[in-house]
Amino acid sequence: MKQFKLSTSLFLLGILLLFPTISAVAQGIIPKPHTVVYRDGQFKIDNETRLYSNLSRKNLKTIRYWLGEVTSAPLKKTRTRNGNQIIRLIQTGKPNEMNTVPFNRYLQGYTLDVSERGIEILSPSKAGLQYGLQTLRNLTAADGTVRYVHIEDTPRFAYRGMMLDCSRHIWTTDFIKKQIDMLVRLKMNRLHLHLTDEAGWRIETKHYPELTEKAAYRTTSNWEQWRATGMNYCTKDTPGAYGGYYTKQELRDIVRYAAERGVTVIPELEIPGHNNEVTSTYPQLSCTGERASDLCIGNEKSFEFIEGVLKEIMDIFPSEYIHLGGDEASGKNWLTCERCQKRMNDEHLQSKEQLQAYMMKRVNAFLNRHGRKMIGWDEITTGGTPDGAAVMAWRGADMGFKAAKDSKVIMSPTECYYLDYFQCNPATDERGQLGYTPLKSAYKFDPIPIDYQNKPEAKNIWGVQGNLWTERVDTEERAEYMIYPRLFAVAEAGWSSPAQDYNDFKTRALGLIARMKRDGYAPYDLQNELGDRNESTSAVVHDAIGKPVTYLSPCSPRYAGTGNGTLVDGKMGDWSFKDNGWQGFIQAGRLSIVIDLQKEMDINNVSADFLQFRGPEIFFPAEVTVAVSTDGQNFEEIDKQTFKDDSTRYFVRPYTWQGKAKGRYVKVTTRAPKQGGFIFCDEVMVNRRG
Ligand code: ACM
Ligand code: ZN
Repeated sequence: MKQFKLSTSLFLLGILLLFPTISAVAQGIIPKPHTVVYRDGQFKIDNETRLYSNLSRKNLKTIRYWLGEVTSAPLKKTRTRNGNQIIRLIQTGKPNEMNTVPFNRYLQGYTLDVSERGIEILSPSKAGLQYGLQTLRNLTAADGTVRYVHIEDTPRFAYRGMMLDCSRHIWTTDFIKKQIDMLVRLKMNRLHLHLTDEAGWRIETKHYPELTEKAAYRTTSNWEQWRATGMNYCTKDTPGAYGGYYTKQELRDIVRYAAERGVTVIPELEIPGHNNEVTSTYPQLSCTGERASDLCIGNEKSFEFIEGVLKEIMDIFPSEYIHLGGDEASGKNWLTCERCQKRMNDEHLQSKEQLQAYMMKRVNAFLNRHGRKMIGWDEITTGGTPDGAAVMAWRGADMGFKAAKDSKVIMSPTECYYLDYFQCNPATDERGQLGYTPLKSAYKFDPIPIDYQNKPEAKNIWGVQGNLWTERVDTEERAEYMIYPRLFAVAEAGWSSPAQDYNDFKTRALGLIARMKRDGYAPYDLQNELGDRNESTSAVVHDAIGKPVTYLSPCSPRYAGTGNGTLVDGKMGDWSFKDNGWQGFIQAGRLSIVIDLQKEMDINNVSADFLQFRGPEIFFPAEVTVAVSTDGQNFEEIDKQTFKDDSTRYFVRPYTWQGKAKGRYVKVTTRAPKQGGFIFCDEVMVNRRG
């Protein structure tokens, strides 16, 4: 009997350890802690509760800030660690919070213990203590009670960041601080500020004051309108001027505020592309002597300029890593510019990619001489990655794994972590960038999927980052709407074990959204999400399922669905054109396929769903033709329908034919509309009866 009891309790303990986070789920903690074990009983924080901490008075200041989010009790300080009615916050190590903690995930971990002895949070770092307090904040009820619990928690990755584009639209320092608070709440630790780009220069620069005089303001705040009307800059006092810049003091204030909260601010000086604002101010820095997107790499003055600005940037931002951009340089003028050609000759460079790499490597060496390192968008790998540079992979995770063979990589793939993409069905949202990334797509991304876990490059995946580009994001409410809740998914991927259960995550996200709203944020309300496209959630049955398909015109390799069976697999696509259920066609003939039904049969119905999404240039076909054949050679056309261009931004609509035909082969061909673009189809259904 005794033995039975022991094994029963071991079994129960096993269950508890196997499913440690079940109760945490109910509490809605994001990111999900590593190990959570509850016990019966609860501690109550009240006016008698004391605070014990070995932190210095200065360090305790931000800790007090977070304690204020846990409880309104005064928490008078006590010098004794012993006693029961005490919250103990103990830093167990003395690492350099700026230089070591952001790079060492173990130093960012914490344990939280709530018991008869009170509350105790231990961490090697102040940052970790803050993370413990975020967890405590989630577990504490309004009346101050916290259930007994033991939590052990360490992040999966050391780098967990967000990028805010301050060029396309500029954000107040208060707004930025508000988002830093949210980063801490999500246990994130990097804020990347995109401070220079064609839409406006945003850093006070003492040695180049013309930049803020001539290129920090533009003629209208509406970015699309500005692009369409010549991308003109203006001075601050021009009527209708939009823009501004951050003074050094404001930037230092942001850096200080962030550092107190364990967040490193990484500034970006974008080179050599996206430099219209610079060459508009200093045309001599372009290849042609006129305003252009790229800096001239043959001109020593370009390097003088970059190094001069970087010195000022390094003076403001203590971050070891400085972002140098490197993306989307066209290099258009480099091949015809005498100075660039001379540089290529002198340095034995074979291509414009190598010419760009020359610049990135040289500026990287400059940073290194000043004790700094560079991060660049993944284009920096093309002509040879600069030594020791970290790569921010935006053009897909594969680009990240390739770079991770010899560089540190931050995963920031557009299709999952671009926060400017639509997050609800594009038919129901007002504005967004080209893509569609519902929370689920962001959540499903695993920075190191199973196939890579044992590969050496896995250890080079430094972390994750969500990016808010702000071309079409022009108010604070809209920015928060786009950032949250998708940043929750980035935070969870960066901190917790690989994503497993979307429904559990969504429940926690709904809880956090509600709390954020109470705290004055404006997240997208997931409750209004349309959710999955109904048609995509169950299989369709028809007579062409699993039959061989011949592609008379190939589908785009980027949008190949699950391969050659995609259009006859009984599975419809979801709202996103990036969902595997869809195939996209861009080649001349667009969609043109022959399905072999493998025996002659009556055909009474042929239908197919097509997607239109005007942003990414996906259009409903202008014409759909269906033909049948008995021998696969001679086809008889049974239907041709033409469709007028419809200006609706987004829809999924069927093409349908019903009638009487007989044959073994069914050919479906589409014609693209005048404006070209893609044609996207998820299933071609053939049926004997209507
Ligand atoms: C990028 O989105 N061009 C980095
Ligand atoms: Zn040049």
